[in-house]
Amino acid sequence: MEVVIVPDAKAGGELIAEAMAQLLRRKPDALLGVATGSTPLPIYEALAARVGSGAVDASRARVAQLDEYVGLPADHPESYRSVLRREVLEPLGLDMAAFMGPDGAAPDVQAACLAYDRALASAGGVDLQILGIGTDGHIGFNEPCSSLASRTRIKTLTEQTRVDNARFFEGDIEQVPHHVITQGIGTILEARHLVLLATGEGKADAVAATVEGPVAAVCPASALQLHPHATVVVDEAAASEL
Ligand code: GLP
Repeated sequence: MEVVIVPDAKAGGELIAEAMAQLLRRKPDALLGVATGSTPLPIYEALAARVGSGAVDASRARVAQLDEYVGLPADHPESYRSVLRREVLEPLGLDMAAFMGPDGAAPDVQAACLAYDRALASAGGVDLQILGIGTDGHIGFNEPCSSLASRTRIKTLTEQTRVDNARFFEGDIEQVPHHVITQGIGTILEARHLVLLATGEGKADAVAATVEGPVAAVCPASALQLHPHATVVVDEAAASEL
């Protein structure tokens, strides 16, 4: 695992966007795995700026979703599909034909999970997976004690994650769904390159457990230690417990 300490979130975004741009120059139809949350926004902004300036062509890029709420209609503004359309696809000039994700509104959620795992494999696998990290060390929506070999499946959110995510639902925890679909940890580990960005003091304990703790299901992100090409980019504040 490679750990890179950057001065701030903007610098982290630039660094990772440049790695994505390099990948796209080498492989124009690369499958980019993207995460939601506030942390990756500087990455997407920096990549969109490179596309806007002509420094990289993303017109053939493909985008794969990491996780999704269950029960929100796909066009709900806070479904992760909608969030990723606004924050990633539109700024890169991509339409939804370039997008793949699990169907969080499917009547048979388990079948939708299986179908998404298969779709990722038949698309050739994720080339570069962007990850954020929850304050409890979760990646995607793999909450603590998720199996490190897990596949895409339905999960129940912890109270802490629902509290953390209430800010996207007018601060009202009642509106935050209880269930989600997430790529499993085993699924995530199949991406060719994992890049986790963590910024701010609130992530310092989770980062320390990820990088310096034992590989253990209590900190799902510690599974990155098992991956042959994992990069953890942290700002000074998130690195403060290392
Ligand atoms: C959610 C997402 C994760 C994300 C996490 C942290 O739980 N499912 O993929 O990493 O939030 O979000 P933030 O970056 O806003 O702290």
